[in-house]
Amino acid sequence: MYKLIIKGAQPLNGSIKIAGSKNSSLPILFASILADSPVTLTNTPHLSDVSTTLRLLMDMGSEFVLESDSSIFIDSSKLTKLTAEYSLVKTMRASILALGPMLAKYGKAKISLPGGCAIGARPVNLHLKALEDLGATIEVKNGYIYAEAEGLIGTEVYFEQVSVTATENIIMAATIAKGTTVISNAAQEPEIVDLVNCLIKMGAKISGAGTAIITIKGVDKLSGVSYAVCPDRIEAGTYLVAAAITGGSITVKNVRHQSMRSIIGKLIETGANIKSTKNSITLNMNGKRPKAVNVKTSAYPNFPTDMQAQFTALNTIADGHSTITETIFENRFMHIPELARMGADLTLEGNTVVCKGVKSLTGANLMATDLRASASLVLAALAAKGTSTIERVYHLDRGYETIEEKLKLLGANIERIQD
Ligand code: EPZ
Repeated sequence: MYKLIIKGAQPLNGSIKIAGSKNSSLPILFASILADSPVTLTNTPHLSDVSTTLRLLMDMGSEFVLESDSSIFIDSSKLTKLTAEYSLVKTMRASILALGPMLAKYGKAKISLPGGCAIGARPVNLHLKALEDLGATIEVKNGYIYAEAEGLIGTEVYFEQVSVTATENIIMAATIAKGTTVISNAAQEPEIVDLVNCLIKMGAKISGAGTAIITIKGVDKLSGVSYAVCPDRIEAGTYLVAAAITGGSITVKNVRHQSMRSIIGKLIETGANIKSTKNSITLNMNGKRPKAVNVKTSAYPNFPTDMQAQFTALNTIADGHSTITETIFENRFMHIPELARMGADLTLEGNTVVCKGVKSLTGANLMATDLRASASLVLAALAAKGTSTIERVYHLDRGYETIEEKLKLLGANIERIQD
C-alpha cells in the first residue's frame, strides 16, 4: 500500500487541467452493454474505479483497448456472461449500473449486491422496485440480485427518494424497452445529462434530462458512438478549495462552471475572488484567511454531498463558526476524528457538524477512510503547519487522477511512498 507525505502551510498557485468525470464515465461504460457495436469514450479519467468497471465488463465478455490519449474503445455488444461477480462488485458499488442495461438487452442479470461502504448502508431498493415496475422479476438471495424479464415494458416510474444511479439504471433500461417510460422525481445531476447525451447519440429517444421528469421512448436498438465525457465538477471543486484553504490562486481548466454554481457560490461566500471563462475557473484568495460558511448538502442543483468533506476541511481554519449538515448519507463524517487530530474544533450533533475555525492546524499521521474524506485530509494537510502522512491512499485513487502530480504542479510539497 502507499501513503502520502505532505509538508503544509504554503499557498498553492498555478493551473491544472481537470479530468473527465468519474461519475459520468462509469454509467456510460455500462451503457456500452446496450450498443450493438463498439463505443469510443474520450476524456476518460485514469482512475481505479474506471479500471474496476473495465475489469467487470471484461469478465462479462466485453473487449476494450485503452488508447494513449486516455480514450477507451470498448465493445460490450456480445456479453458471454450475465453475472457481475462479488469479487469485483465489492470494490465498487457503482457496479449496480450493469443491472439495467443487461436486463434490457438480454432479459437476464445476476448482480452481486453491492453492500454498504464507509459512508452508509447504500441500499438498492429504489433500483429494484423501479425495474419491477418495468416488468422485471427480481429475487435477492445469497448476496446476489437475480433479475429476469421477458421484455421490459415502458411505464410511469416514481422515485420516493432522489437517487442518481437508480435514475441512471432506469434510463438505460428504458431506452430499449417497449413503449414509453416517464420517470418522476428523477435525479438532475450533470452526470445524468452526460449519460443521456451519449445515449441520444447512440439512438435513444430521451427528453427532460437535468429535470425531475425524464421521458424515454423505447427504440429497437442502440449503436456504438464516439463520445467525450464531461469534466469532473467534484475534482474541480476540490482543487478550488485547495486554493482557498492555502490562501493561494489556482486556475482549473477544462471545466463547465454551469454545473458548479452551488460550489462557486459557497467559495465566493468564503471571501474568494472567482473569475470564470468559457472553460476555466480561477480562484484567488489573495493570501486572505477564508470566512466560515454554513453548508447543507442535498440533491443537485443544491450543494453536493461529494463536496461536504472538502468544505468541512476549509471551515476548520476559517474565520468564525459554521455548521455543515449532511442530508444524503448517514455516515459521511469519517473525516471528522482525523481532522480533530490536527487540532480542528469540530462537534458532531446528529447529521450536523458544528465547526469553530482555528488559526491553523498541525500536521499529523492520518488514515483515509473513503474517497471524499481522503480528499479533505489532503486539503487539511496542505494548510497545516508541519508534516502529515495519509495512509490508505487507494481511497483517493478511486476518484482523483494522479493527485500528487497535480498538487506538485501547484507548488505542494507532497510525495507518495510505499508503506
Ligand atoms: C451517486 O451515488 C454518486 N456515485 C455518489 O458519488 C454521490 O455521492 C451520490 O450519487 C449522491 O450525489 C456515482 O454516481 C457512481 P444515491 P448513488 O442513490 O447513486 C439512498 C463519489 O464520491 N438510496 O443518489 O449511490 C442512498 O442511501 C460518490 O463520487 C436508497 O435508499 O447515490 C442515499 O441516502 C459517493 N435506495 C440517497 O438515496 C436506493 O436504492 C442518495 O443516494 C438508492 C439510494
